Amino acid sequence: MIIIHDRDDVRHELEPHDKKALLLQLRPMKVGIIGLCNGNAACGTCHVYVEKEWLDRLPEPDEYEAEMLEEVAGRRENSRLSCQIEYGPELDGLEMTVAPRS
Ligand code: FES
Repeated sequence: MIIIHDRDDVRHELEPHDKKALLLQLRPMKVGIIGLCNGNAACGTCHVYVEKEWLDRLPEPDEYEAEMLEEVAGRRENSRLSCQIEYGPELDGLEMTVAPRS
């Protein structure tokens, strides 16, 4: 299960499919994840804050994600692009919050 808090701090739960980018699973939930570039790490509209205890369990951002994160509004040390996080069972319980609009 993935836990995501929207911009009104309403908690939503998702039972993700294995090995599918979180963007594709979060976008239909209408929690504020837009994904204008369809997962190409080029728009920042899938920006989330990952709960700090989960950060070390995620792979490091690749160069494209790192570059986009330099540009997003409201960047924090726990900022990630949800389009670049691929779900697997090791992420069961992952908790995140939708970042403010850019
Ligand atoms: S969907 Fe555009 S950066 Fe993630």
